[in-house]
Amino acid sequence: MSTSLGSALAGRHVLVTAGPTYEDLDPVRFLGNRSSGRMGFALAAAARAAGARVTLVAGPVVLPTPAGVERHDVRSAARMHRAVMDALPADLYIGAAAVADFTPATVAGHKIKKRPGGDGLVLELVRTRDILADVAAHPRRPALVVGFAAETRELQANALAKLRDKRLDLVCGNLVGGADGGFESADNTLEVYWAGGHRRLGPAPKTTVATELVALLAARLAAIPGHD
Ligand code: C5P
Repeated sequence: MSTSLGSALAGRHVLVTAGPTYEDLDPVRFLGNRSSGRMGFALAAAARAAGARVTLVAGPVVLPTPAGVERHDVRSAARMHRAVMDALPADLYIGAAAVADFTPATVAGHKIKKRPGGDGLVLELVRTRDILADVAAHPRRPALVVGFAAETRELQANALAKLRDKRLDLVCGNLVGGADGGFESADNTLEVYWAGGHRRLGPAPKTTVATELVALLAARLAAIPGHD
């Protein structure tokens, strides 16, 4: 299916997060994840193609900035949180980043050493702040708040729980770690859920899925009273 975006998002501000976050353990090591950032970058490009002003907050990835998109590079979940809050207000928020749920309680000032004959290493991790939930609860809440649920199993149940618990308008579930797309792949399948609705997008290249998702989001945004 080919989707033309026209100027479906003209006059809107779209805020997108993409990529992983890196949580530093010491000056040379970090905790990260396998997010490539491709889905979020494709969404930023598609929103721009639809005429929106687009702010992209990107974790550590090696991807070119889509034309016409304002990009802010961050490393940690804490920095991503700050950059997102600074970029509000927006009409549409898409949290496509794979934000770390935990970060080291302390960052060692020097490289952590193994002790000769010593045991393993126990790391103390603390919860990060949930950017998506904070955006959804923000006084200047975007009209549409969209999250991702990257899961390795029970996709529908986990996605619907996220929709409810984080007070989202839509959630895009995708299975990761399998053969049919996900984090490191160029292709993706999204199961998009909202209150009373569901649509499957793909399997298709992430750029195609992104265009279809942006078309869906533009239509839902236009249907919100006072947001046409
Ligand atoms: O709870 P979980 O991490 O599985 O939720 C994934 C969704 O929440 C994604 O949209 C991700 O961008 C967002 N998230 C966030 N801040 C966190 C953790 C997740 O915005 N600290």
